[in-house]
Amino acid sequence: MDVSVLFRQIIRKKSIQELMDGTRNGPSLRRVLGPAELTLLGIGAIIGTGIFVITGIAAAQYSGPALILSFVISGAVCAFAALAYAEFASMVPIAGSAYTYSYASLGEIWAWIIGWDLILEYAVSVAAVAIGWSGYMVGLLQSGGILLPDMFTNPPGTGGGFINLPAILVILGISLLLIVGVQQSARVNTVIVLVKLAVIVLFLFLGFSHISGANWIPFMPYGWTGVVTGAAIVFFAYIGFDAVSTAAEEVRDPQVNLPKGIVGSLIVCTLLYILVSAVLTGMVPYTLLGTTTAPVAFALIYNGIAWGGALVSVGAICGITSVLLVLLFGQSRIFFAMARDGLLPPFFGSVHPVYHTPAKVTLLIGGVTALIAGFLPLQSVAELVNIGTLAAFIIVSAGVIVLRRSQPGIARPFRCPFVPLVPLLCIGSCSILILSLPTLTHLRFVIWLVIGLVIYLIYGRKSCRRVDDASCRV
Ligand code: ALA
Repeated sequence: MDVSVLFRQIIRKKSIQELMDGTRNGPSLRRVLGPAELTLLGIGAIIGTGIFVITGIAAAQYSGPALILSFVISGAVCAFAALAYAEFASMVPIAGSAYTYSYASLGEIWAWIIGWDLILEYAVSVAAVAIGWSGYMVGLLQSGGILLPDMFTNPPGTGGGFINLPAILVILGISLLLIVGVQQSARVNTVIVLVKLAVIVLFLFLGFSHISGANWIPFMPYGWTGVVTGAAIVFFAYIGFDAVSTAAEEVRDPQVNLPKGIVGSLIVCTLLYILVSAVLTGMVPYTLLGTTTAPVAFALIYNGIAWGGALVSVGAICGITSVLLVLLFGQSRIFFAMARDGLLPPFFGSVHPVYHTPAKVTLLIGGVTALIAGFLPLQSVAELVNIGTLAAFIIVSAGVIVLRRSQPGIARPFRCPFVPLVPLLCIGSCSILILSLPTLTHLRFVIWLVIGLVIYLIYGRKSCRRVDDASCRV
């Protein structure tokens, strides 16, 4: 093939107008979500395994009591990214999130890379989070006297396991809920999120009086390197605020409500994380936080408040459930947008005639992630989620700068402040966090990208709706 033709194809872009027109011509979704539901959707996606499980690992191995600084650093990185996302979400309020934004600003090849990359952020984390859910559920059932056989609660090769059934069942249950309808799912999500927030407030209330200043000394046992690596690890806790933007086509008045949902949910979660990490590390010596898979509940039990620990466990299970709900939802909407653009087969974009949801693709994602969660110990693969998301943030921030230059006149109901400074700060800080992750993770990420590029060259490039039929432009 002529190299110049190939080059023209892979850098072709879609204009904002063409992207918006595409949503009118193809199958459409119902606009049922308002600003409060969106903020709750964001909180539903954000607060989960990160704060309930990963805080313990980060405090014990990397940050020490300076966990609070790791959360501040990671929160700042996400704040820069949230401002970039909010500008795009107000300007291109259609499903697909970062995938769609990069199609508009950087071109098809970047759109494909980011769509492929977002599978790590959404689908792989669904599997990882479901395994965490299963652990909490098995523990809670155990404390109620119900013992499930190891064979059915662990993957092969771990603790006498064969299949992680609870993880599979929770994913399948949530897939069915999403198929029935977005409004019903949003209602369930609202209840779950309120329970989760109540449990966190309860933890802060009960834990505050058990803080001992001695637990904060030494404050930075692993120095600044530990704090920054800790930030790259607890970054997982913030993943999900961008999931708000994947719901763009189901939002009323999206230009106004999407930025509110993205920035609002991030602010609430950052404040809660800073408070939880300060109280947690004040209640328990940081070294002990690495000995449990439920550090938040453990801190209460350690201080003699067993009933509080049990309540927190129930809240954590609810919290992790809503993360699963929003991440699965987000992945189905990204595939939906990619199929509409021809980068994936039409199967991925079909909408159920009765429920008006992308039912087939939701079942497919549910099935595949359930298999991963049921049979694989995803601990090492889970690091991929962070690197994939950080890479997505970098591409979106670059997109804001590019689009401000290439299309300065386009309506931007929400403008990211201090461009290009804020997007550049996002790119710089995400790069530092990526470099803080293990080399093996870098390698796995490169392999993932290479696989994606091969698929693009074989399928996506040929079937993308063509430049010459006016749906793409170079
Ligand atoms: N931020 C989400 C969690 O912590 C992925 O579970």
